[in-house]
Amino acid sequence: MRIGDTVRRPLRPFSLTVQGYLGHLRDAGFTGAPLPLGVDEQGREVLSFVPGQVHRHPLPAEAAGDDVLVDLARLIRALHEASAGWVPPPGAVWGGSPAVQGKLVGRAELVSHRDYATGNVIFRDGRPAALIDFDLARPTTRLYDIANALWYWAPLKWGDPRDRAPALEDADIPHRMAVFADAYGMTARQRAGLTPLAVDMARRYYEDSSASAKLDPVFRKHWEGGGRDVLRRAEAWLREMAPAIAARVVQPG
Ligand SMILES: Nc1ncnc2c1ncn2[C@@H]1O[C@H](COP(=O)(O)OP(=O)(O)O)[C@@H](O)[C@H]1O
Ligand SMILES: [Mg+2]
Repeated sequence: MRIGDTVRRPLRPFSLTVQGYLGHLRDAGFTGAPLPLGVDEQGREVLSFVPGQVHRHPLPAEAAGDDVLVDLARLIRALHEASAGWVPPPGAVWGGSPAVQGKLVGRAELVSHRDYATGNVIFRDGRPAALIDFDLARPTTRLYDIANALWYWAPLKWGDPRDRAPALEDADIPHRMAVFADAYGMTARQRAGLTPLAVDMARRYYEDSSASAKLDPVFRKHWEGGGRDVLRRAEAWLREMAPAIAARVVQPG
């Protein structure tokens, strides 16, 4: 809930660890994240309200251009630069799934956001300007973080023609990934690793969601009501597109 220029959210086990990370980002000069403002008298987490607008799937035409990917890639690059070298304090508690992390990603390089869902990217003047909702932040790799951003924004999740936003119906997704890769400044090694990681990630998101649907009745409704089919189609589409994606992404543009 918003109060003035602050946001109040339920305090979770990881909230104070995330606030420590947000404090580091502020000190490092990164301005694209909420400021950590502690805990209020009712025990809620307090963050600064980040002005702007979010777009959700299906992305409207104004959020579907290559220029948006360029700004998002630069924003994530700046986040990575600000995050690198920060060592979480002993006793740090993170959200998200450590299993996904360990199996998919290997040894962590830095703490990062890891959840670039469309509702977590704040636009100003039509361009991505800031990130919110660091609930899934934890130690990870730059490449996993990039793959997650592309999942929502290439988008890989909605690559199958049946799931495309109308504004992206004719979009060339491998091209969009190459635009992101160039704007981020991905290394040859990251480019080579992206497609295999994305395929594994799609598989893992399916398995994780399937497991969550067994535990959480609200999520189960969403999963059985079409969420499962979207992830099935996404994985099949991605496997089919993998060579085309690799051909566009592996060579810098
Ligand atoms: N710090 C913030 N500044 C501005 N808007 C926010 C902020 N935190 C949340 N919001 C708004 O609330 C929505 C949901 O918040 P979020 O933290 O992403 O929770 P969740 O994804 O778990 O619902 C966001 O899409 C955004 O519109
Ligand atoms: Mg969110």
